[in-house]
Formats: sequence, structure tokens, C-alpha cells
Amino acid sequence: MAMGFKHFNFFALMLVGLGLIVAVHAQDQSGFISIACGVPANSSFTDDTTGINYISDATFIDSGVSKSVSTDIKATDQQQVWNVRSFPQGNRNCYTINVTGGTKYLIRATFMHGNYDGKGNLPQFDLYLGPNKWDTVKVLNSSISVIKELIDVPSWNYIHVCLVNTGLGTPFISAIELRPLKNTTYITKAGSLALFLRVDVGSKTSPAYRYPYDVYDRLWMPLDSSLLNWTDIRTSLTVDSKIHNDYHPPSIVMSTAATPIDDGPMEFNWNSEDAATAEYYIYIHFAEIVKLQGNQSRSFNITLNGKYWYGPLVPDYLSTISLYSPSALAGQAKYDFSIFKTENSTLPPIMNAVEIYSVKYLLQSETDQGDVDAIAKIKSTYGIKRIWQGDPCAPKGYSWEGLNCSYDGDTPPRITSLNLSSSGLVGNISADISNLVMLQYLDLSNNSLTGSVPDFLSQLQNLRVLNLERNQLSGSIPIQLNERSKNGSLSLSVGDNPNLCGSDSCNKKKSNVVVPIVASLGGLLILAFIVAAIFLGIRIKRREQHVIMVDNESNFQNPSLESIQRQFTYSELLKMTNNFERILGKGGFGTVYRGNIDDTQVAVKMLSPSSVQGFQQFQSEVKLLMRVHHRNLTTLVGYCYEGTNMGLIYEYMANGDLEEHLSGERANILNWEDRLRIATDAAQGLEYLHHGCKPPIVHRDVKCTNILLNENFHAKLADFGLSKIFPTDGGTHVSTVVAGTPGYLDPEYYISNWLTEKSDVYSFGVVLLEIITSRPAIERSQERTHVSQWVSSMLAQGDIKNIVDPRLRGNFNINSAWKACEIAMACVSPTSTKRPTMSQAVAELKECLETELARTKKGLEGDSTNSIEMLNMNLTTELRPLAR
Ligand SMILES: *[C@@H]1O[C@H](CO)[C@@H](O)[C@H](O)[C@H]1NC(C)=O
Ligand SMILES: *[C@@H]1O[C@H](CO)[C@@H](O)[C@H](O)[C@H]1NC(C)=O
Ligand SMILES: *[C@@H]1O[C@H](CO)[C@@H](O)[C@H](O)[C@H]1NC(C)=O
Ligand SMILES: *[C@@H]1O[C@H](CO)[C@@H](O)[C@H](O)[C@H]1NC(C)=O
Ligand SMILES: *[C@@H]1O[C@H](CO)[C@@H](O)[C@H](O)[C@H]1NC(C)=O
Ligand SMILES: *[C@@H]1O[C@H](CO)[C@@H](O)[C@H](O)[C@H]1NC(C)=O
Ligand SMILES: *[C@@H]1O[C@H](CO)[C@@H](O)[C@H](O)[C@H]1NC(C)=O
Ligand SMILES: *[C@@H]1O[C@H](CO)[C@@H](O)[C@H](O)[C@H]1NC(C)=O
Ligand SMILES: *[C@@H]1O[C@H](CO)[C@@H](O)[C@H](O)[C@H]1NC(C)=O
Ligand SMILES: *[C@@H]1O[C@H](CO)[C@@H](O)[C@H](O)[C@H]1NC(C)=O
Repeated sequence: MAMGFKHFNFFALMLVGLGLIVAVHAQDQSGFISIACGVPANSSFTDDTTGINYISDATFIDSGVSKSVSTDIKATDQQQVWNVRSFPQGNRNCYTINVTGGTKYLIRATFMHGNYDGKGNLPQFDLYLGPNKWDTVKVLNSSISVIKELIDVPSWNYIHVCLVNTGLGTPFISAIELRPLKNTTYITKAGSLALFLRVDVGSKTSPAYRYPYDVYDRLWMPLDSSLLNWTDIRTSLTVDSKIHNDYHPPSIVMSTAATPIDDGPMEFNWNSEDAATAEYYIYIHFAEIVKLQGNQSRSFNITLNGKYWYGPLVPDYLSTISLYSPSALAGQAKYDFSIFKTENSTLPPIMNAVEIYSVKYLLQSETDQGDVDAIAKIKSTYGIKRIWQGDPCAPKGYSWEGLNCSYDGDTPPRITSLNLSSSGLVGNISADISNLVMLQYLDLSNNSLTGSVPDFLSQLQNLRVLNLERNQLSGSIPIQLNERSKNGSLSLSVGDNPNLCGSDSCNKKKSNVVVPIVASLGGLLILAFIVAAIFLGIRIKRREQHVIMVDNESNFQNPSLESIQRQFTYSELLKMTNNFERILGKGGFGTVYRGNIDDTQVAVKMLSPSSVQGFQQFQSEVKLLMRVHHRNLTTLVGYCYEGTNMGLIYEYMANGDLEEHLSGERANILNWEDRLRIATDAAQGLEYLHHGCKPPIVHRDVKCTNILLNENFHAKLADFGLSKIFPTDGGTHVSTVVAGTPGYLDPEYYISNWLTEKSDVYSFGVVLLEIITSRPAIERSQERTHVSQWVSSMLAQGDIKNIVDPRLRGNFNINSAWKACEIAMACVSPTSTKRPTMSQAVAELKECLETELARTKKGLEGDSTNSIEMLNMNLTTELRPLAR
């Protein structure tokens, strides 16, 4: 939701490079991976419209059934969608595709139902890339294919493309295509890019242009200009005939364009899928395709939601200029672009092609590589028939049948139990099992395993339960196993192995009782998170000709900061802060100073050296934190670690912390609407930490001084994740600063000693009470009354007017105030289960805000323009594939 304080600061940054890239070498399909699903194993074919060579999917998956689509589809559509592989069995079926790790790929999955089942049952199911959800596939028309595209850099030399049955019909897939891209293109600050829209403006050519016109095989959908009151123009000459920029839009796409019918602006817009969380990147490609006369000129400015975005731009004759923003567009309900001609331009603006992508955060990490390799070998050794595909442990909830995993914090998931009971295993006990070092529970009972009980089983230090009953094992039990069984650290069951000698006697028929205690598998560990090693080392560098970055409002950080090394030396900090001249504040973790990097203001937090972990850990934590991005979290720009000098560099928040504004240190008083917006902002930041990060992050120190306000009074949470750098376990007392602040600390924590997301909800409730009342968490009087006690006694008297900060003089909607109090009181409920989740709190706070806005008669939406929506989601996701 667009949360007021309309903010768009545009840092126009233009880097037109010098290097020319000469495209003289012929483009081939090298690096293309083109898989047609459901075609017979070992077969391949060349599509006659594109010349692309497709191969069967049989070597990439070992489940599913091949089906053929109806004949009318075969008459009209490309051959790669003539067959599908459908998955009536298993919740999750995965393709494993070898790729070049670290390369940027365009990954495209195509789903053409084509009534392959003869019943016309149109399913809906989920598409995953490895452990991360990529999108939901919803088939609405059996003769229209659904296409999903993602630009991603796989970390490993393989990817898993998985289809997850969500109970809404049988998943199926037609084709998977991977196209390597230049790593200098489509760069994001964080996350991968999912295609939202890619159009060839001014073209009526259907089917869409793709390879061989486009060397990267992107699909360019024709855009009907008449819908937007534009006119098409085209040239028969070749655009970019000799050189092209790295984005390399096809010449044929660039040779058509549109201009407005009249003298007015060219306008297009789209609605955000979710104003609170959706982020977009836009790429606009321009080329002049009219040979201008001496007295003609074309020059235009571009605005986004009414604010200057870029310009004046003069497109080059027959040469592409690609315009894009290096950081995501975010936080708006609608994105409205207008292209205006400038005063001395004689011609209207022109536009040739547009691409819009939305950001996907693929944060869930994959299972430990050692475990993956071991379990893959075990699978192949025993020829296990189960649907064991994709990542063994992730996503949580879809781990392989017979496996349990631990999902703790910042390490990849580990396999902790393996149940291969009654799985028809033959042969020896595989040595690969010994590589599953975190194994606590191993059940190999009721198979036909032969040979001896190997020694390596006793090397599994974590093993608590070992069940080898009902096999054909022989020899004797290793001494160490026997000892662990005797001293009670291992529950060992070896019964019904006729040739196996126990420690005491042979042929013991009676089986031991299996104690089904699976030691805690790590449980749901929070206070930590994992970010997959995607997009390491993003640096923005533009050197190719004719590519222009436009920096929109930096939700994340200033572009000039981005290109700076993120690790700073102490002397750089000294310089940055002018020898720590200006103190901005003091917090639990250290003192904060004001600094400058080039012309950008930053806040430098020098950490008290007391309890920080070693450099390696510090660095890895900080690097992870630098990748957590949300507009309600302060951005971490860099860090310093030199001996005892440790510093973190954050974006500068011009309006200080919330407490200063509530306590009356500042001249102006926050009105009710401001307060609700700030509360909602902070709540959204927490919601993201709790529900948007996997595994979740618990802030542990939510309080007014950790809520910072920028120049637009947009609130952001500070110090998240710091508790990770300053570990507080090891039985330390809650009184230490880092474990929470008196007045904000969840009372249940005293009992359970276990901080959860709900502890943050409690602290947030206290903050909300302070926002409502402007009273401190704990009264500074002798009684030291807690603000929640005070409010609850006032509520008992039914007196809302005296609860809300008297300085507001009743200038607020009563219902809105009641509701805010209710939310706050629910959050500070002594029982954590009675507290809402942050998502619930966010939703309720938004309602509060709406109520207040209704009073002040201000809409959340900006004023409407008369431009129309360019294209809606259906058109973008359901692209009809090429006719033959
Ligand atoms: C595919 O080729 C492999 C190796 O050449 C062969 O073992 C297999 O039987 C073939 N499969 C089919 C269905 O022809
Ligand atoms: C993928 O790579 C792995 C390891 O390099 C190899 O064993 C496997 O056969 C490859 N799979 C395919 C389908 O090429
Ligand atoms: C599905 O799409 C086809 C081709 O665009 C169209 O003719 C047909 O009416 C559509 N069917 C439904 C049920 O919408
Ligand atoms: C692109 O890849 C090259 C080599 O493969 C590497 O040197 C360069 O740093 C990469 N650039 C980016 C922006 O990732
Ligand atoms: C296009 O122009 C016509 C006539 O001026 C107008 O009625 C219509 O609303 C315009 N459409 C758009 C999308 O601007
Ligand atoms: C430009 O010059 C041409 C002749 O060279 C003339 O016909 C046309 O009217 C001029 N246009 C403008 C905008 O001055
Ligand atoms: C276009 O942008 C330039 C640079 O900001 C500005 O000087 C000029 O007035 C703008 N022209 C129009 C028509 O908006
Ligand atoms: C617009 O006209 C002014 C004055 O004639 C000139 O200085 C300026 O360069 C022109 N701008 C463009 C983009 O042609
Ligand atoms: C895995 O965990 C589930 C749920 O806790 C439990 O029911 C199941 O028995 C466990 N399986 C193994 C193999 O430990
Ligand atoms: C192990 O698998 C067997 C057979 O599938 C099943 O009966 C048993 O309950 C499983 N054990 C656990 C602990 O899940």
C-alpha cells in the first residue's frame, strides 16, 4: 500500500559507456538447453519455425507419464508443446537439469494443457525452483499456454525445476528452456527477476518474435497500439546493424515503434500485484527510426507517477538506447509512466520496446551438499523406487518421504533421520550412509540386506536409534555399537537376522524394543536466516554503449553506495565520519556517528567490542544482513572489522528515532495519521522478518529507539539481526542490553527462556502503546507503572480520549483509536498464543489507517489519470505460443 508521505527522490545517474561491442560473430544456440517434456526417451527434433533443437526430458526426471495433446493444438502450435509430462503421483516431482553454476540464465517453463487428459480438467499447481516457490501455475484455457520466465543465477551446477501438487489438479509441463544471458544485464540489488511483461511496441506480428531474431530467445509480444491511442511507425532499415548494447533487443523488434496520436504524452501503467511487497524493474528500449530533417528534432522527458524520472532523451538514429533503473521500483499501488516531448522537440516521443520484471526472493537455502551427495548415492545404490527428487529437505514440508531434516538457522538443512524400512533393499549396508553425519535415526529394518554390520555406523556420533531388524545380516555387531547400546546412548535393534551374532549369543530371535525417541531434530530454530548464495558480488558497472541507468527513489540504497566496496577499513571510517565528529546516538550495540560517502550521508555504528564473534562469523552474518532488503528495514551498506574496531554502515535516517518524536524532544507533534503510518511501517518491517525471511528472523530488540524515520517520516526498523552477531546464549541474563530492553521484553520469555516471533509482537505492542499515548514504556515515577497496565486501567474506565496523547487535542477518529488500542493490547497479551502474528497486526493497522483517512478525506490512492492499463496479468502470463 502506498503509505503516504509520497516520496520519490530521483537520483538521476547516467553512465554512458565507451566500449563498443561489435556483433559480427554469428549467434548460435550454444548454451541453450531446450527440453521438450513427454516426448519419447532419447528422441530429439528441430522446431521448424525457430530452428531450435529440443531433446526429450526423460534423462532429467524419473517419474511422471507422457501424454499427447489434442490434434488441433498440433496443427497450430510449435512442436515442443505437442506432448506433456503429467504427474498423477507424488506431491512434488522435480527435474534435475545440469547448468553452469554462476551463469545468469533465462529459465522458461511452458504449460500447454491441450486437453491431454481428454477430460479438460484444468489444474492449478505450484512451480518451484529448487527449494523456493517460483510461481503458481493456473491453467484457465486448455488451448492457451501458460509461460513462466525467471532470470536467475544458479549457485550450483544443476537446478531443480519442481512441480508441486497443491490438491487442485494434476501438475503437468510441456517444455523447459534455459538461455544463458550476459551477466552485465538484468542486474538486481537482490533477488531474481520474474517476467511480468515484455512487449514489442508498434508491432502487429503474431506470433511473437523470438530466436533466431532474438539471440537470447526472449519472447516479444506484439502490443496493439490502437488500444493506447498510439500510432505505429516502422523502418525497413536495420536497427543496430553493427553494434548493439548488452541487452541486445532484436533489430526487428526495434524497427517498429509507436508515437502518440496527438501532441500529448505517451502513457502506460500497471497496477502493483501487492503494493506493500512487490518490486519491479523496468527496461525501456528506444531507437530513432525516422530520418530527421534539418528542422526536425525529437527529445522527451519521462515521469513516473508524475515525478521526473529521466530526460531529456534524444534517441539515436537506428541505434538502441536501453533505459532502466538500477534499483527496484517499490511501494506504489500503481506505476504510471508518461513520456512527454520537451519544449523544443518538433516530434512527439517514441518508444520501441518495454520489459517489466517483478522481483522474486529465492531465500530458502538448499540442503547441505555433503548430505545431498550421500543420499543421491544411496538412492542409486539401492535403486530406490520412491519419488525422491529435487532437494531432499527443502522446502520444508516437502522433504523426501522417509527423511527428516533439521532446519536450523543460518546453515543449510541437514538430514537427521532416514527410514528405509521395508524398501526392498538388497546388498550390503552402503558406506554412503556414513556421510550423513548428522543422522540421529536410522531404520533399515525389514529388507534383505546382507553382509556384516559395518564399523562405520559407530562413527555416526549423533545416532540415537539404529534399527536393523529383519534382514540377512551376518557376522557380529561392532564393539562400539554394542557399548553405546549398553550405556543407553543408542537404541539398537538387530533382531531377526538369523546369521548375526550379538555380543552375548548368536541367533537371538527376540528383537530389542525400539525406543522411538527421535531426539529433537533441531526444531524450529529461529533468530537466524539463510540467503541462498545467489547474486553474490553484485556490482553495478555500465561500460557498454547506450545503456542508461535511471535511479528511482532508492528504497534500498543510493546508487553511488552500491558500487563501493562493502568492506571498509578503519581509516576509511575515520575519514567518512571526520574522526567521529558527530554523534547521532547511542544504542545497545554501540555509538552511532554521522558520516559521508562521497555526497551520500550515512550512519556509522561503532560496535562495542565486548562479545562479538570472530571475524569469519561477523563477516558472514553481516554479508547476509546486507542482503535482507525491505523498505521498512534500514539498509546496511557496509562494515568494517579491524582488530577491536568494528563498525556497521547504514543508510542515514534524517528524522532520527521515533522516541525523540514521541517524547516531545522535537518541536512538531506527530498527528494521528502519521502515528498510524509509522506503526504500520514498523509492523511491515517485522512482518517481513518473521514471514518473509526463511527461516524467520526474530528482531529481539523492538523499541521506539530502534524505529528510525527518514526525511519523509517513512519508518524503518534498525538493528535487526544484530542479536545474531552478539550471541546471547550460554545462560546469560536477560538484563544484558542485547537480550532485550526492560519494558519491551516478553514476560513469557522469563518462563520459557525462548524468544520467538511472538516476543517481537509483545515488544511491538509496547511500541504501539507508546505511539498511542506518548508515554514511556515504564513510567519514570516511583511506581514504575508499565504503559500496558496504565492503558488497561484507563480502558476499564472506557475512556479512550484520555488514553491517546493529549497533545493531539482529540484530533483523531475515535474508532480508529479504539482499534489501535485493541491491537496493541492483543500484542502485549501475557500469553504468547493470544498475541496476533505480525501479518494480522499489519492488516488491522491498515484498517485503522483507512478509518482515520476517511475522516481526513484523503485517499490512499493518488489521483487517477486517464491513461489505461497497458496489459493485465492474464495477458502477460498466458502467452499464446507461436503458430507454426
Ligand atoms: C536411450 O539410450 C540409452 C543409452 O543409449 C539406452 O540405454 C536406453 O535404452 C534408450 N532408451 C530408449 C527408450 O530407447
Ligand atoms: C549432470 O551432471 C552430473 C555430475 O556432473 C552427471 O553425473 C550427470 O550424468 C549429469 N546429468 C545429465 C542429465 O547430463
Ligand atoms: C480458449 O482460447 C481459445 C483461443 O484463444 C478461444 O477460442 C476459446 O474460446 C477459449 N476457451 C475458453 C473456455 O475461454
Ligand atoms: C561477469 O562474468 C565475468 C566472467 O565470467 C566476471 O569477471 C564478471 O565479474 C561478471 N560480472 C558481473 C557483473 O557479475
Ligand atoms: C483514445 O482517444 C479517444 C478519442 O479521443 C478517447 O475517447 C479514448 O478515451 C482514448 N483512449 C485512451 C486509452 O486514451
Ligand atoms: C521543415 O522543412 C520542410 C522543408 O524543408 C518544411 O516543409 C516543413 O514545414 C518544415 N517544418 C517545420 C516544423 O518547420
Ligand atoms: C525535461 O527535463 C529537463 C531536465 O530536468 C528540464 O529542464 C525540462 O524542463 C523538462 N522539460 C519538460 C517539458 O518537462
Ligand atoms: C532547446 O532550445 C534551446 C534554445 O534554443 C537550446 O539551448 C537547447 O539545446 C535545445 N534543447 C534541445 C534538447 O534541443
Ligand atoms: C519425521 O517426523 C515426523 C513428524 O515429526 C514423524 O511423524 C516421523 O515419524 C519422522 N520420521 C522419521 C523417519 O524420523
Ligand atoms: C518407517 O517406515 C515404515 C514403513 O514405511 C513405517 O511403517 C514406519 O512407521 C516408519 N517409521 C517412522 C519412525 O516414521
